[in-house]
Amino acid sequence: MNTPAPRCFALIPAAGVGARLAGAMPKQYMPLAGKPMLQYALDTFAASAAIAHTFVVVSAADAYIDGFLATQRQLTGKTSVMRCGGGTRQESVRNGLQAIRKHASDDDWILVHDAARPGLDAALLDTLITALRDDAVGGLLALPVVDTLKRCTGKKMPRVQETIPRDALWAAQTPQMFRYALLHRALKEAQAQGCACDITDEASAIEMLGLQPKLVHGNPRNFKITLPHDIALAASFLQGQE
Ligand code: CTP
Ligand code: MG
Repeated sequence: MNTPAPRCFALIPAAGVGARLAGAMPKQYMPLAGKPMLQYALDTFAASAAIAHTFVVVSAADAYIDGFLATQRQLTGKTSVMRCGGGTRQESVRNGLQAIRKHASDDDWILVHDAARPGLDAALLDTLITALRDDAVGGLLALPVVDTLKRCTGKKMPRVQETIPRDALWAAQTPQMFRYALLHRALKEAQAQGCACDITDEASAIEMLGLQPKLVHGNPRNFKITLPHDIALAASFLQGQE
């Protein structure tokens, strides 16, 4: 009997509060070039034939998700919201993986994507899936670092301690794409080792197992909206895209 081909599921952690952006609402719900930030990623995944289903993780106390869902006509069968967010991004991802256990097989691919990266488009998503579909480990979108990097002393009045060679450095983006069982195990082991709060992406947990995730060339437009000045830049990209 043939084993079914692995499917691709998107998992969007969206249980943060956006403290650094300090907006009137959690950043994933902020309007951006005509629609809420979260909707960009949902629309990209919903439109992709390669994505079997999208799961969004929000916090149990989320006061915005019901209003958001009420405005979504096209999300029907291909998207589900799970109210199981945790105190950190990794906890939200771990809880989300646990909650979809009954839907995903061990070999299915999970694409974890930040709600705060509205710049993921169909072509970039396709590039990632094509590059990793047959990979033994999985991987992530990332960009080679172009700026000269300085390590500093002191946070309030930083001074340069040293310059770090950037030749082999990449900046990680999302989606990060790993098979369900491997990712679930990696995140649980990271938690058991007490490193969960040091881990800001899925690849780090996979690396702790001694594996080497593949780097797939991302796009600067897929940057994460983190600080107030990111909003205007993202809006100008997204307006041009419409
Ligand atoms: N996230 C989450 N659960 C948390 C914290 C973050 O699901 N407890 C999600 C965010 O909603 C976001 C992604 O992880 O989609 C990336 O996190 P980040 O950019 O840090 O968002 P926030 O944590 O909301 O922002 P901040 O750190 O400034 O508070
Ligand atoms: Mg955060």
